[in-house]
Amino acid sequence: AGVFTYDPGFTSTASCDSTITFIDGEKGELLHRGYPIDQLASKSHYLEVCYLLLYGELPSAAQLEDFESRVTNHTMLHEQMHFLFRGFRRDAPPMAIMVGVVGALSAFYHDSTDITDPWQREVASVRMIAKMPTIAAMAYKYTIGQPFMYPRNDLDYASNFLRMCFAVPSDDYEVNPILSRAMDRIFTLHADHEQNASTSTVRLASSSGANPFACIAAGIACLWGPAHGGANQACLEMLREIGTVERIPEYIARAKDKNDPFRLMGFGHRVYKNFDPRATVMKQSADEVLDLMGIDDNPTLQVAKELEKQALADPYFAEKKLFPNVDFYSGIILEAMGFPTSMFTAIFAVSRTVGWISQWKEMIADPQLKIGRPRQLYVGAPKRDYVDIENR
Ligand code: CMC
Repeated sequence: AGVFTYDPGFTSTASCDSTITFIDGEKGELLHRGYPIDQLASKSHYLEVCYLLLYGELPSAAQLEDFESRVTNHTMLHEQMHFLFRGFRRDAPPMAIMVGVVGALSAFYHDSTDITDPWQREVASVRMIAKMPTIAAMAYKYTIGQPFMYPRNDLDYASNFLRMCFAVPSDDYEVNPILSRAMDRIFTLHADHEQNASTSTVRLASSSGANPFACIAAGIACLWGPAHGGANQACLEMLREIGTVERIPEYIARAKDKNDPFRLMGFGHRVYKNFDPRATVMKQSADEVLDLMGIDDNPTLQVAKELEKQALADPYFAEKKLFPNVDFYSGIILEAMGFPTSMFTAIFAVSRTVGWISQWKEMIADPQLKIGRPRQLYVGAPKRDYVDIENR
C-alpha cells in the first residue's frame, strides 16, 4: 500500500523542471526561452524558433545558416519507405500513416540512436525536424493518389512543404509567398507548449530509454485526439456543420447542455484562462490570408467570428473561462490554402515535432532522469482465492 496524491489529469502535478517554455495562463502569456510568442510569430520564422527551442538562444546569422543547411541535408526519406506507404489503404487518415511511418523510422535508425551519445542525439533531432514535412506531404499525396514530390532544398521550410503537398511533377508550381508566410506562422505558433498531453507522452515513453523515433510516434498518437491536436480538424468540421450564423444559438445551447456531450471545438484550454495568445495571432493571420487572397465572403470565417462573439458574451463561457484557443482559426487558414481537414492535425504534428524533440533532449540530459512511473489508488477487488472454472 502507500499514500499517494490523487491528481487525475495532472491538474496540479509538475512532472519536470524545464527551461524551454513558460506559460502564464492567467495573463495569457507564452514565452519560448523568455521570448514572447507574438514577437516570435511576427519577427522570427520557424527554423529560427526551432534553433531557439533546441539550443536555448537565438542563433547568430552563421549559426542559423549552419542549422538550416543541416536540416535541409536530411529532408529526403529513404526510397524503401515508399513501400511502407503503399501498404496503407488510400483512404487512411494521414495521421494514421504518420504514426506508422514515423514509428518505422526507428527501424531505419536503430543502429545510430545511442541516446547516451550527444552527437547521435543531435543527428536524430535534425533528422526528425527535416523529415516530418516530407512524411506529412507524402501521406497527403498518397491519399489523393498523386505521385510523391521530392523535397527542394533551395526553398524555405514552409515553402518546401507547400510545394511537396500541392505541386505535381508536370507543372511549374510557384509557392505563393503570402501562403508560405502564413504556413510558417502556423508552424511557429504550434512549435512548443510545455508539458501538454503529447509532449508528456513523448517524455514518458522516452524515460525508459526507448528509440526517439518510436517515442515521437507515441506523441503523434496522443496528439491525434480531438481534445488535443485533433481539435483543429474537429473545429472546422463543426463550423461547416453550423453553416450559417442563424444556427449559432442552437450550437451554443448544445455546448451548455450538460446532457449533451457536444463541446464548442477550438474553445477552452487547461492552462489559458483569459485568452490564448496564439489565437490572437492566428485570428489576425486568418484575416490577412483571406484578404490577400481576395476571399472576403468566406462563410466559415463569418460563422467563426460570430460564434466567438456570441460565446464570449454568454455567461456560461465567461464563468468557466472558456476562450478561443489556437485551433479556432488555424483551420480557416489551412482550408483557404487548399488542405483537406484530414491534414490539419498532421500539420500540427509537423510543427510540434521540434517541441517534442527539445523536451526529449532536455530530459535525456537531465542528471535527475528517472523512468516515469505514476502510482495509483487501487479500488478493485480485495485479495481472494482462485476459483476453478467448473465452480464459477
Ligand atoms: N465547450 C463547452 N464546454 C466546455 C468546453 C467547450 N469547448 N471546454 C470545457 N467546457 C466546460 C466543461 O464541460 C466543464 O464544465 P463543468 O465544470 O460544468 O463540468 C468545464 O468547462 C471545464 O472543462 P474540463 O474539461 O474539466 O477542462 P480541461 O482543462 O480538462 O479541458 C480542454 C481542456 C481543452 C480539453 C477542453 O476545454 C475541451 O475539450 N475543449 C474543446 C477541444 C479543444 O479545442 N482542444 C484544443 C486545445 S488547444 C490545442 C492543443 O493544445 O491541443
